[in-house]
Amino acid sequence: MKILGCGSAFYVGQMGAAMIEELARVPADAEPASEFRYRNPIVEPDTLYVAVSQSGETADTAFAVQEVKRKGGQIVGLVNVVGSTIARECDGGIYLHAGPEVAVASTKALTHMGVGFAMLALCLARVRDLSIADGQRIIAALRKVPAQIEEILADEEHIAEVARGLAGAESLFFIGRVRGFPVAREGAQKFKEISYRHAEAYQTSELKHGPLALICETLPTVAILPNDELSDRNLGAMQQIVARRGPLVAVTHPGVDFGDLDVPRIVVPKSERELDPILLTVPLQLMAYHAALALGHDIDKPRNLAKSVTVE
Ligand code: F6R
Repeated sequence: MKILGCGSAFYVGQMGAAMIEELARVPADAEPASEFRYRNPIVEPDTLYVAVSQSGETADTAFAVQEVKRKGGQIVGLVNVVGSTIARECDGGIYLHAGPEVAVASTKALTHMGVGFAMLALCLARVRDLSIADGQRIIAALRKVPAQIEEILADEEHIAEVARGLAGAESLFFIGRVRGFPVAREGAQKFKEISYRHAEAYQTSELKHGPLALICETLPTVAILPNDELSDRNLGAMQQIVARRGPLVAVTHPGVDFGDLDVPRIVVPKSERELDPILLTVPLQLMAYHAALALGHDIDKPRNLAKSVTVE
């Protein structure tokens, strides 16, 4: 499966690709729709293409849909706006029903995209190899998402305090790995979009291959640290940051053993591991919001950006 979207929709596409591979064991990846048609892509008849878009009017994504169709591929949409161009051009699809999204930076639509991908992954998985019990495990976890988001929102004052501490930095890193990496990318995207601070995402595992050289007292890192099979390795990288006096914030789950690592934490309710990215993204949106608020920026209408990018 190939998922096509732009900006944050591309990052959620990466989260979706991981869910589809993990649950359905179907090879899946995501690609920026804005690049797709320019590399003369090979469109395979047995690959399902998925276009993901909040507005349904993003020109780059619409052109990617046309490229797939021109070359005889099948494409479905994961779109919010009913009857929009992308929704109409796709062969079928899922409407997100997130309701109108007013602010330029995409928030609730992204959460709905994450849930949409989880449901698509589940459908594909159940007709392949996923057991009834595992399917029910995912459904039960999806049912908990609204209440868990409420829990995150209840922690807003703490998140705001952390954000105010980050707002003064000229530049930040967001790090995560495997399922956590698209979360880090989306966190950096939101932060730069509305706070106008330079924010860059890396795989935690890539730090030592170059970016570690930049770590110092003035470059904070936001580390995505789920309670999963990679926690210990992630903590090892975080120790490296602290040893170089880099300010660090962890976005994590209950039950992670930090040992002697004493860093500010934002604790997010745990879901099933495949769905963790959906919830881990929410505090990062709040973090960007509160950093922008502290800096006095117009959060709903950030400079230089339009809500729907209808030109190439
Ligand atoms: C980020 C953001 C953009 C959009 C991108 C795609 O907060 O809003 O990166 O995600 O322009 O827009 P849609 O989803 O409307 O195709």
